Amino acid sequence: MKSFLTTRIAGVLTLALSLIMVQSFAQSARTIADFDKGWKFHLGDVKNADKASANDKNWRNLSLPHDWSIEGTFSKDNPASPEGGALPGGIGWYRKTFTVPLSSQSKKVYIDFDGVYHHSDVWINGHHLGFRPNGYISFRYDLTPYLNFGGVNVVAVKVDNSQQPNSRWYSGSGIYRNVWLVTTSASAAIDHWGTYMTTPEVTDAAASVKIAVSVKHNLAKFKPYTVSTSIYDAANKLVSSGGTVPSNKQIIDSVTTFNSTLTVKNPHLWSVTSPYLYKVVNRVWINNVVVDEYTQKLGIRYFNFDADKGFSLNGKPMKILGVCDHHDLGSLGSAINTRALERQLEILKGMGVNGIRTSHNPPAPELLDLCDRMGFIVMDEAFDMWKAKKSKYDYHLYWDEWHKRDLEDQVKRDRNHPSVFIWSIGNEIVEQYSKTDTAGRTITRELAGIVRSLDTTRPITTANNDPTTTNQLISSGALDLIGYNYHNQDYAGFHERFPGKKFIATETTSALETRGYYDMPSDSVRRWPIAWDKPFTTGNPDNTVSAYDNVSAPWGSTHEETWKVMKKYPMLSGMFIWTGFDYLGEPTPYSWPSRSSYFGVIDLAGFPKDVYYLYKSEWTDKPVLHIFPHWNWTQGKTVDVWAYYNNADEVELYLNGKSIGVKKKTGDDLHVMWRLKFEPGTLKAISRRNGKVVLTKEIHTAGAPAKIELTADRKAIKADGRDLSFVTVRILDKAGNLVPNADNLVKFKIAGPGSMASVDNGDPVSHDPFKADWRKAFHGLALAIIQGKETAGTITLTATADGLAPATVVIKSK
Ligand code: GAL
Repeated sequence: MKSFLTTRIAGVLTLALSLIMVQSFAQSARTIADFDKGWKFHLGDVKNADKASANDKNWRNLSLPHDWSIEGTFSKDNPASPEGGALPGGIGWYRKTFTVPLSSQSKKVYIDFDGVYHHSDVWINGHHLGFRPNGYISFRYDLTPYLNFGGVNVVAVKVDNSQQPNSRWYSGSGIYRNVWLVTTSASAAIDHWGTYMTTPEVTDAAASVKIAVSVKHNLAKFKPYTVSTSIYDAANKLVSSGGTVPSNKQIIDSVTTFNSTLTVKNPHLWSVTSPYLYKVVNRVWINNVVVDEYTQKLGIRYFNFDADKGFSLNGKPMKILGVCDHHDLGSLGSAINTRALERQLEILKGMGVNGIRTSHNPPAPELLDLCDRMGFIVMDEAFDMWKAKKSKYDYHLYWDEWHKRDLEDQVKRDRNHPSVFIWSIGNEIVEQYSKTDTAGRTITRELAGIVRSLDTTRPITTANNDPTTTNQLISSGALDLIGYNYHNQDYAGFHERFPGKKFIATETTSALETRGYYDMPSDSVRRWPIAWDKPFTTGNPDNTVSAYDNVSAPWGSTHEETWKVMKKYPMLSGMFIWTGFDYLGEPTPYSWPSRSSYFGVIDLAGFPKDVYYLYKSEWTDKPVLHIFPHWNWTQGKTVDVWAYYNNADEVELYLNGKSIGVKKKTGDDLHVMWRLKFEPGTLKAISRRNGKVVLTKEIHTAGAPAKIELTADRKAIKADGRDLSFVTVRILDKAGNLVPNADNLVKFKIAGPGSMASVDNGDPVSHDPFKADWRKAFHGLALAIIQGKETAGTITLTATADGLAPATVVIKSK
């Protein structure tokens, strides 16, 4: 023991000294280069395109990330079907020619793909590196043995999304996530996803941070090396450091794991309201020189799921108020864009959401970075199916060969994110029902075992649409949380069914709303298709549904029904609404001409539906008074007016100055309602607390469309060729009221260093292209997404429409 301590202290002292000496070396230790630019793309299969000498001169030039499906044309005949978004799949080839300096000869060079949808084959200089079927997994290839150092190299990628259907939602096609070129020392470097950080003891006084660092070493002539760890606070002040004893083994091409435990005094804890992040720098040293340096974020927090008390974070009880989302970014398709994701999360934060379920697959790494930074609790999901299929060409075909590797890679990649709290190993897995064989139990135990071999700090669950005791996944005994998809009517009896177990509502609701559209009285709840007076197969010609919260899937509920019960029982640790945003594909219960979902609290363009304000009124302290519908009806029509409100005892409604009455929520009410006869004019609502006015809201009957209004979510963006400004287009009457049924065709012109990334309006039935410089308004709104270039300057967006006064907005790109 003594000698170990002495060596350890000596090691740390040497490290401290050498830190000063070798600062300049640290820079060159590892490079992680953005490898997104300068690719060539060809849609369709090409013979011999894997060969280095293939002629790609006439191929299209583009930068990644790229999704070719979103550039295609909607058609009911596309094999993905409306369920998959009704856009084309197919085969695509990508090639990139690049040089590697001679100086890299002594290094290891890797290519890292964050995600390729799907069935990718990768070649370097004609050498096949591998095949990866899973479209959501991140993977790496070692290029070193095949590179021309000091010369030209060609990487070729074949992406095959031709076998369809293979997904129950829109997948997108292509290298739709980022690609990186990573160069490390060949002698010793931290392995791919080679760190594992946990915080086993956290008190106000101190947190212990356990860090395991796996070093890959290939020392032709052995030299002892050490690993050091430094933890910095958010102000970049060193708060803890440690080192390990020098390795004394000679192993060629092997991995050794170094474990250390550091202490952070008076830790700032990570939470959803204060997502404090430390920085951890691990360094590998040989002869006092840093040969590798690897930086990650660290969040210090502790949490618990309790069978009776539900979830707590850092000792404080709270509910997980989450949403499920698919990975598409609306009109941008599935091509990852950090700002687009950040905007989604900002909109969700505004409604009080604190949790995200990555349904039903591993997310882009950027999502987890954002959730770490913005404070979201993530349920990180692996699969939508196991061995038994959901669609003909889905991942079940690759299950046997790939599931272990894919799950391991997901856990290794994501386990250091403070935002990740739950592992879900599957959604609505068919093997739940495998009553006569053991597949359900066996696979559950195997998968849970894989996760636990890599991370024991987070509970494991499955999202079950059959949350019963005969469910094979649950009865395997291998799960930590019993995941309920829907079945809100069974929540109260959870412990009668599962005594002593812990609950999570992995998926809830599936209610339908279309932003801006109202077509039925709001006082009855309908489950389609059974109780719907307009059967979905024939009625509702424009395929939109009521924006009152009263229509849901037969297996789901209205928003209010689930939230009422969730709120009532502390043992219910949280929920994930299906879904936060509308997504491409799965227009259930509709089919063509619909091509995107109706389940979102927010539409595809990112415009909140009315029910957004229900959650905002319940899930935040921000004052809310939201009244709807619009006030443009035919004279004498009976209209139900709803209000969502909070921070007040009552709301009074006035029509043209005359009181329609004071309403108060009683019992577990979540809204109030007035039924009145329409007459044009002004509808005004006033919320009051103790007789004092809290908020006032007015809706005016709008006149004819007269002008366009443009509002940019950000008027200053980065000139990095990626950043976006989301411009909301509103069609107003003379007096400035939104015209609720306006569908004017708006044309856009851009001057300056910007381009149109895409346009949208949230209409689930529109077949107009997203890549265009025009869009019709849908219920008065449209969206233009402006992307900056790499040159700074002033971008001016002008919008015109026949008969309307035009509008411009100016965005600075710097
Ligand atoms: C669930 C399923 C989701 C989605 C949803 C629609 O059963 O897990 O992926 O299909 O239904 O209501």
